[in-house]
Amino acid sequence: MTSFSDLGVVRPLAQALSHSGFSEPFPIQIATLPDAIAGRDVLGRGRTGSGKTLAFALALLSRLDSRKAKRGKPLALVLSPTRELAMQINATISPLARKVGLSSVLIAGGMPFGRQLQALEHGVPIVVATPGRLIDLMHRGAVDLSDIEITVLDEADLMSDMGFMPAVKEILDATGQGGQRLLFSATLDKDVDALVKKYLRDPIEHAVESAGIAHGEMDHHVFFVKQEVRDEMLAKIGSRQGRTIMFVRTQRGADRLAEKLQAKGVAAGTLHGGKAQGARTKALDAFKSGKTPVLVATNVAARGIHVDDISLVIHADAPTDPKDYLHRAGRTARAGESGTVVTLARLNQQREMKGLIKKALVEATFTHMDVANPELARITGAQEPTGEPWFPAVEHAPKKRRTSRPGGHAGEGGSGAVGRHKPRHKGRSGGSGSSGSGSGGSGSGGERSDRPRKGSGGGRGRAGNGSGKTPGGRPGGQPSGKAGGGSSGKAGGKPRHKPKA
Ligand SMILES: Nc1ncnc2c1ncn2[C@@H]1O[C@H](COP(=O)(O)OP(=O)(O)OP(=O)(O)O)[C@@H](O)[C@H]1O
Ligand SMILES: [Mg+2]
Repeated sequence: MTSFSDLGVVRPLAQALSHSGFSEPFPIQIATLPDAIAGRDVLGRGRTGSGKTLAFALALLSRLDSRKAKRGKPLALVLSPTRELAMQINATISPLARKVGLSSVLIAGGMPFGRQLQALEHGVPIVVATPGRLIDLMHRGAVDLSDIEITVLDEADLMSDMGFMPAVKEILDATGQGGQRLLFSATLDKDVDALVKKYLRDPIEHAVESAGIAHGEMDHHVFFVKQEVRDEMLAKIGSRQGRTIMFVRTQRGADRLAEKLQAKGVAAGTLHGGKAQGARTKALDAFKSGKTPVLVATNVAARGIHVDDISLVIHADAPTDPKDYLHRAGRTARAGESGTVVTLARLNQQREMKGLIKKALVEATFTHMDVANPELARITGAQEPTGEPWFPAVEHAPKKRRTSRPGGHAGEGGSGAVGRHKPRHKGRSGGSGSSGSGSGGSGSGGERSDRPRKGSGGGRGRAGNGSGKTPGGRPGGQPSGKAGGGSSGKAGGKPRHKPKA
């Protein structure tokens, strides 16, 4: 059995992981850690939920081990396309960093500048950032990236998508010459070529299970549904037992669907980039705690976000991009768990859906579904809604502008750490994540909220919830699970639209 120490992870980290129940490295960690710790540029592709965060986190922490940073001159940088994801990554890194005399700061929009500036001023070695706020701070002279030795691009294919490229390039150009670069994603495909050519030196690629999502862990179904029964079907599905995430295309669509579900008695929250950061944080926290077992979200929640025990992903609006399909779907069946993914498509979308599923390299069943079909309950656990309207707590946070533009990927993110700890089957336990403060990121396809923007900032982040353990042994992390497989792989097309998430 390979241990974290065998892979080059420094002893205090390996010990902390083992104390938190992370007894064995996952395949993507086994594949990438030795090269990454040796200082090589790495392209790491592993399926959604396969443990890529710890793969790059342990590499950078092992390499920096106890190093000190000068004021305003961090040594390592992790870039995330969304605020929520940045928070989650920071929540994983932060407790582990303390084990090796390091610290990290979250630099993201939608939260106050104070803490971020203070940490930089004190000389924080690790920065986890969304591009927009980081550039903002660079332009203000609050951060100088010339000492950066390790840069990680999480969701690298999304980061290299058009909307992010100028910001990412500006950031990479500002980092130290000859520094190490690590690119990770479940869909690390040719979209990153330009970045790789320009910024990576002799990179080594590690793809764990490069085909699509392994059938079996994730069950894929496409329901062709008459438009007039869609809402009723979603209310039945939303009344199931278990945690369900429903993805829609637009912010307005998310609000509308949530309102319809609530009217039928479904406790549903919403997460999209049109909400104030505080409200987004609350929505994600309520979803994690089980207060609202249904979350209606745009693609802002599609990339990287880990919430325990999401057993069903519904594409309430069918995606058009296979990568969107894979990342949305990947919110379930994480870390070796299993889960179900259902796409509700219109009757006239049959050809389109078959093409999309093929490009996403998954196997799915295609069914003409009606609310009376017993298969609906069998596949999704759908139940009759109570019919008693459910009222969400009144939101005091001011609402941001809402748009009905379609919402692409990761929009601005925004909440605390994800997940609660819960021991998983086969004796694995522990989890990542932990604190993490909130704020909004940006999104692919969707609102790239963290595109550089004058005077960004505003909302407030907050410590992530999550009551579990972290790999560093601190309360507040997300749970782990058993080794996830590592499919993912190339998923066809480029994000075509850049809608608001
Ligand atoms: N070696 C390990 N042992 C047990 N659990 C682990 C291990 N590595 C990671 N995990 C857990 O697996 C879960 C998924 O990890 P992570 O979020 O890093 O996946 P990912 O590959 O980045 O997925 P995505 O592509 O969706 O971003 C987390 O809860 C994490 O704590
Ligand atoms: Mg990830």
